[in-house]
Amino acid sequence: MKYKALLALACLISSHANAHKAGDWIIKAGPISVQPSVDSDPIDVAGLQTFENGVDVDNDVQLGLTGTYMLTDRWGIELLAASPFSHDIELEDAPVTAGDTKHLPPTLSLQYYPDFGSDTFIPFVGLGLNHTVFFEEDASADLNLALDDILSQPAGTTDATLDLDNSTGIAAQIGLDYMISENILINGTIWWIDIDTQANIYTADATVNFDVDIDPFVYFLSVGYRF
Ligand code: NI
Repeated sequence: MKYKALLALACLISSHANAHKAGDWIIKAGPISVQPSVDSDPIDVAGLQTFENGVDVDNDVQLGLTGTYMLTDRWGIELLAASPFSHDIELEDAPVTAGDTKHLPPTLSLQYYPDFGSDTFIPFVGLGLNHTVFFEEDASADLNLALDDILSQPAGTTDATLDLDNSTGIAAQIGLDYMISENILINGTIWWIDIDTQANIYTADATVNFDVDIDPFVYFLSVGYRF
């Protein structure tokens, strides 16, 4: 009788979700939005013209993936990856798209899962390191025409190259896992990531450099699997 009662209790407990445990893996996938809050230096084009307000960088949504490994019941380590983001770069002082770039922002975070006594609502905070790799940067035709104008060259002369330096910086996050069963969860996570780059525009006659802080908030909504 005692044995049967224990078995019934064990079944009851195991049919409920548990909080994350040391050794658990949690894989999540879903839409992820990078929303830059840009702070750009002025752009000085060879002393001929200055764009005081620099550039802005627009938002993009891609597929985000995270993998978490629980080192203990309270501490986890998480890697964020995503399909490549693509952003237009706008000149703030003129109605001109200066160019576009792609980037990958892998981010490794140490996470802390405080014990609030719930096995279904599992909040966490994290702190980590981001490395952003910019690639396939393109200067636009509009930028080339604007540079021809500023450099007093015939239209079609300038064929500028745009290059953005890679960035390594701190990433802070806050998130919530909601267990809908023992293995399946729904998650929302927000990161703030310190991404600072130097933009370099090269033409045959001039090199233009300026600093851009992109410092985005990153929003992730996902479905996860724990095993
Ligand atoms: Ni910054």
